[in-house]
Amino acid sequence: MRRKLAAGNWKMNGTRAALSELDALTVSAEGPEVAICPPATLLAEAVSRRSDIAYGGQDCHPHDAGAHTGDVSGPMIADAGARYVILGHSERRADHHESDADVAAKTQAAWKAGLSVILCIGESLSEREAGETLGVIGAQLDGSVPEGATAETLVIAYEPIWAIGTGKVPTTEQIAEVHAFLRSSLTERFGEETGGAIRLLYGGSVKASNATEIFAVADVDGALVGGASLKAADFQPIIDALA
Ligand code: G3P
Repeated sequence: MRRKLAAGNWKMNGTRAALSELDALTVSAEGPEVAICPPATLLAEAVSRRSDIAYGGQDCHPHDAGAHTGDVSGPMIADAGARYVILGHSERRADHHESDADVAAKTQAAWKAGLSVILCIGESLSEREAGETLGVIGAQLDGSVPEGATAETLVIAYEPIWAIGTGKVPTTEQIAEVHAFLRSSLTERFGEETGGAIRLLYGGSVKASNATEIFAVADVDGALVGGASLKAADFQPIIDALA
């Protein structure tokens, strides 16, 4: 059984005062796993504040250390107490020109540091409208995910770029089509057991009002949530919809 996962990506939001939102979340060992990926500045303090939530970074450098001003490495994120790191988010692919090969190199660095990777893939609106969605996603999956993935070290987040922060959400049929494709691609590549156990998250304008419908789709094992993860009052109903 794949344990459900509600992961919050705070992106470049939050100063120390925002950590009080963690205190207001209700999580249980029997319920879905809850993970928060705050800005790197808040990671260590979040970890020490509450231990029944998992934490993650939002990116890591492919090298462990060195002359890379402004970057954060996998070992640093692991040392802060994180379990996860988000890699390949479309905002990083766009803002920092990250290629699939870059994401694969970062994934290997994260694995070496003992982190589990939440790896993001997703099509643009023009790719969706041109009927290229599965081709684009298949290429991202092949290019970004290195050999050696396991259910413990990899979570895939399907985030259609046009649904991120827009309030637009794909139909449940569209989500089902992509998640079924991801599942079959992963089982073909990594075998039935591993491919069947890797968790698949949906991300893009998930909120309390649409979470139940999205989570009812086959092969949706949870969500990667942006805006609605910033406030406990918005994130809690999404966590509860996975219970
Ligand atoms: O990584 C989460 C994300 O990109 C979705 O953001 O604000 O649409 O939930 P949002």
